[in-house]
Amino acid sequence: MNKNIKKDFSRPLDVIIVEDNQVDARILESMLMDPPAIAKTLKIANTLSSAIKILEENEIEIAILDLNLPDSKGVETIVEISNRFPKLTIVINTGAYEDELGLEALSLGAQDFLLKGKYNSYVLNKILRYCLERKRSEIELKQAYETLKETQSQLIQSEKMKVVGGLASGVAHEVKNPLATILYGVTYLIDQVKLDDDNYNLVLKNIREATDRANVIITGLLDFSTLNKFNKVEYDIVDVVEKSLLLVNYQIDKNIINVVKDYENNLAPLLIDVIRIEQVLVNILLNAIVSMDKSGRVLIKIYSSVISKNKKELPASDKDNFIAGQKVVIVEIDDVGNGIPDDEINNIFDPFYTSRRGIGGVGLGLSVSKNILENHGASIVIKNKVDAGVIAKLIFKT
Ligand SMILES: Nc1ncnc2c1ncn2[C@@H]1O[C@H](COP(=O)(O)OP(=O)(O)OP(=O)(O)O)[C@@H](O)[C@H]1O
Ligand SMILES: [Mg+2]
Repeated sequence: MNKNIKKDFSRPLDVIIVEDNQVDARILESMLMDPPAIAKTLKIANTLSSAIKILEENEIEIAILDLNLPDSKGVETIVEISNRFPKLTIVINTGAYEDELGLEALSLGAQDFLLKGKYNSYVLNKILRYCLERKRSEIELKQAYETLKETQSQLIQSEKMKVVGGLASGVAHEVKNPLATILYGVTYLIDQVKLDDDNYNLVLKNIREATDRANVIITGLLDFSTLNKFNKVEYDIVDVVEKSLLLVNYQIDKNIINVVKDYENNLAPLLIDVIRIEQVLVNILLNAIVSMDKSGRVLIKIYSSVISKNKKELPASDKDNFIAGQKVVIVEIDDVGNGIPDDEINNIFDPFYTSRRGIGGVGLGLSVSKNILENHGASIVIKNKVDAGVIAKLIFKT
């Protein structure tokens, strides 16, 4: 640890001076470059726009910034630079320091102040190193905060699901039997009582359709209550995917969907409840199919992989369930449909969240799927692609 700090203190830096006063720039340059040099890369810009260009094209870690440039005055300069280059350490070099301006500059992203004429190369070196360290901590803190926020919202989500799931399955149990009676009754009436009146027949047909739909919802809800009962066996995931494709064959044919397959050979078998994972795959395939106009394309990839060092492929809530370097099998389902609006992407796993209400959507497909995968210690990630469509990734431990 101590050694590292020492090393860090003598490491030559990559610096840009943004200063339109040539004399001030010269002074800084000699402090940074005269042996023993503080900087190994030194760029000098005399306007904000030229500084931005240099920063875009070079690996610079620290900017020494004058706030009175020909094309940008005052703290605006800090805002512009720190927004564009959030990892850059910024030190203000000013002729006249004022407390108010100083504090504002710090709150806008600068790390410290240099007062022109009041420092030598020793002080400059020290301030630059301290600023770099402060910036590094700030970035780490920000990242930790983001992860915490994401984990918290996913925790809330999973608690919410437990409550909704528990409640819903209780209600579903109670409603299922009376509903079955209504369904049998109305089916019997339609079959046995041949009425002459078309209106009566239409009413009966409507009742049966409504009851059928209610039954689909109730069955979906009951899934929550049986989610603890799993029958896991070692199974080839390619077979499960193929079985699931057979189950949605009708919808694929009807919508003239081109299914493209890219399966790796000799994948390790997975310990899964085949029926449940089939249910997950059918949900995701159906979501993909209905998101596309006719003649769409679904690409299914199955391949082995390993979890990366920073586990960036996993959602925050699942990072602790996997270890870096862990072997996994990934099933990707990639569509070219209409995608998910950005402001709704965080809701898609909520029970009853659907953008297809009124056209057959209940909003349980993904929340049930997520539960099933959680029970398998597997993860699911659904993202919009850069071009049109959505990619769903199921990540199974092997
Ligand atoms: N591949 C996809 N393309 C576009 N939107 C999607 C896709 N997958 C999911 N969504 C969005 O997520 C929502 C929730 O999906 P989910 O499967 O949970 O419910 P649903 O499909 O609406 O209803 P169901 O309960 O019948 O599955 C969808 O309504 C849709 O808005
Ligand atoms: Mg669905």
